[in-house]
Amino acid sequence: MLQGKTVILGVTGGIAAYKAAAVASKLTQAGADVRVVMTASATKFVAPLTFQAITRHRVVVDTFDEEDAAVISHIDLADRADAVVVAPATANALAKLALGLGDDMLSTTLLAHRGRTPVLIAPAMNVHMYANPIVQQHMETLRGRGVHFVEPGEGFLACGYTGKGRMAEPEQIADKLSALLAAPRDLDGVRVLVTAGATVERIDPVRYLTNDSSGKMGFAVAEAARARGARVTLVAGRADAQPPAGVELVRVESAQDMYDAVLARFPETDIVVKAAAVADYRPAARADRKLKKSADEMTLTLERTPDILKELGARKRPDQVLIGFAAETHDVAQYAVLKAASKRADFIVANDVSQPGVGFGHDTNAVSVFTADGLVEELPLQSKRSVADRLLTIGREAFAARAAAANAGTSTGASAGASGASSASEARETST
Ligand code: PMT
Repeated sequence: MLQGKTVILGVTGGIAAYKAAAVASKLTQAGADVRVVMTASATKFVAPLTFQAITRHRVVVDTFDEEDAAVISHIDLADRADAVVVAPATANALAKLALGLGDDMLSTTLLAHRGRTPVLIAPAMNVHMYANPIVQQHMETLRGRGVHFVEPGEGFLACGYTGKGRMAEPEQIADKLSALLAAPRDLDGVRVLVTAGATVERIDPVRYLTNDSSGKMGFAVAEAARARGARVTLVAGRADAQPPAGVELVRVESAQDMYDAVLARFPETDIVVKAAAVADYRPAARADRKLKKSADEMTLTLERTPDILKELGARKRPDQVLIGFAAETHDVAQYAVLKAASKRADFIVANDVSQPGVGFGHDTNAVSVFTADGLVEELPLQSKRSVADRLLTIGREAFAARAAAANAGTSTGASAGASGASSASEARETST
């Protein structure tokens, strides 16, 4: 993906600047035309000549050092860039980018970059600097503008501390950049609604029922859909993971909140992916005041929550695609097929959460995709992002087939499971 691409590599003044030489080398070896812009402080750690030798291009440090009178370097570079990488990015660099300061070659180049091509930042700094709320706030601001990050790793830091702050490895940075440049735009204009995370069902003002969902699976779907051009609404319950930028984010708490948020947006949605772990039961009554210990035992009466997926299945138009998830520990295929049928979902993505690396909290997942008629595809253990991409391809193909069928004036229900689900649901309605 990097072959022939012009990549600006911004290097700022931290000890990890020495690793930027390896980043430049990886990108160059992958065929990219790498243009290095250094801050003055970065040159205290590594000489520009190092980057010049690797990239075979003059390194720019001084905004006013214009080699060619016919061009203004920072504008020209920004216009030509297929991607920008800043590695390492210091706390100072993040602040300048977030605030829009332009007082050197790198910051002016980034100001002139119009955001039409990816910007990828690899922060590196002391663990306490990284944890500082102002640094996190600047990162959040940049994320909100669509900037991508490769998070720092944990380990021994040059400052003597151990913790999160060391720059991601050059391979990770190059891989992430390749993935960003590889993303197809095959969901341009498609409206995708994703649910993610856990719902929270309040017992009293200080206690609640919830589950282990981290939000990672749903967030990966939302991020992948956005990268492929979709207009994404992300309805998120409680989640530890960081939601992706560039999506409409709707925060909810309970299953009822999620039901309201999702159902209100459903008519304007083409593809729904329900990765959230929604509580099946909630306290029948929520106490307004903290419940006191008055006996050795306490009985909590629970009632069913609304089944969002099932309601979507009931309301679904023929052109809409509905993808549900199923977290199971046994009889995975049987339950998944029953869920697809009873909820009229076009696809159920089943994860066997008893397996290592699968389901709740992990960065990886292994899933089997079912329709009401049976198994469609198995995706072995891989990153949640690549699972997300494959699921979106399955959803897009079903959506396109529906559109083609509608255009051809047919009403056959183009995707496997779409028409079968409705008839099967009547026959096999069951509690799953
Ligand atoms: O968030 P992570 O840590 O990354 O973990 C990912 C995950 C394990 C949560 C995810 O991959 C997953 O399996 N999500 C669905 C978990 C689940 O609640 O399964 P279920 O079998 O209880 O529900 C089946 C489907 O119905 C799900 O799409 C669920 O969103 C939906 N549902 C369930 C109950 C309810 N009241 N309304 C619903 O819409």
